[in-house]
Amino acid sequence: MLDQDVKIAPSVLAADFTRLGDELESIASADLVHFDVMDGHFVPNLSYGPKILSDVKRATSVPVDAHLMVANPEVQVPWFLEAGADIVTFHMEAQTHAHRLCGLIRDAGAKASVAINPGTPVSALDAIITEVDMVLVMSVNPGFGGQSFIDGTLDKLRELRALCERRHVSPMVEVDGGVSAANVEAVAAAGANVIVAGSGVFRCDDRAAAIDELRQGARRALARRA
Ligand code: DX5
Ligand code: ZN
Repeated sequence: MLDQDVKIAPSVLAADFTRLGDELESIASADLVHFDVMDGHFVPNLSYGPKILSDVKRATSVPVDAHLMVANPEVQVPWFLEAGADIVTFHMEAQTHAHRLCGLIRDAGAKASVAINPGTPVSALDAIITEVDMVLVMSVNPGFGGQSFIDGTLDKLRELRALCERRHVSPMVEVDGGVSAANVEAVAAAGANVIVAGSGVFRCDDRAAAIDELRQGARRALARRA
């Protein structure tokens, strides 16, 4: 019951790409594979593209959550839908026709998600909140793994929850960047139910234990909220 509300999404950005098959196997107990796409324009870094995503889809049965940190999502979203992404997240800052893009993602049978950077207010989501399956609240400035969680994110999560209540919608709420066992309870208490963790999972030898610890922490916070 409660565990359906919490999803743990390890970010493979922190994996050893030379051993990607084994790395995916080590996170088989996760709910989502978080797949960070960086284009060197929207963010100052490069990662990987649709070919790797379709290989990942063949190697794991865990659904793939594609986070597109790209300047031209209207061009790239179809590539990642074609490659088999189960959830596609684009950034509000990169897109002026968000409704159209959400429709395109949903028509392809995937879940539509929008992300906001730490410098973008929750109010930017006002016009799109009824059209999305998930909102991703960035808790670091995107581009790199291993950064520190920005504390102001907790207020944004609470504001997002209030917005959702006002609009009578309940999208999944994902938080991404600097999340670990040390702060997952605070993050879930503030309103997140999809937890991304890159270094918080891949730096641990026992990934299943790390995933479980995050899940138990988030569940404890949600149980207190209920
Ligand atoms: C940052 C990415 C994150 C990143 C998270 O640009 O969107 O998904 O991989 O890594 P950690 O959990 O190490 O901050
Ligand atoms: Zn991400």
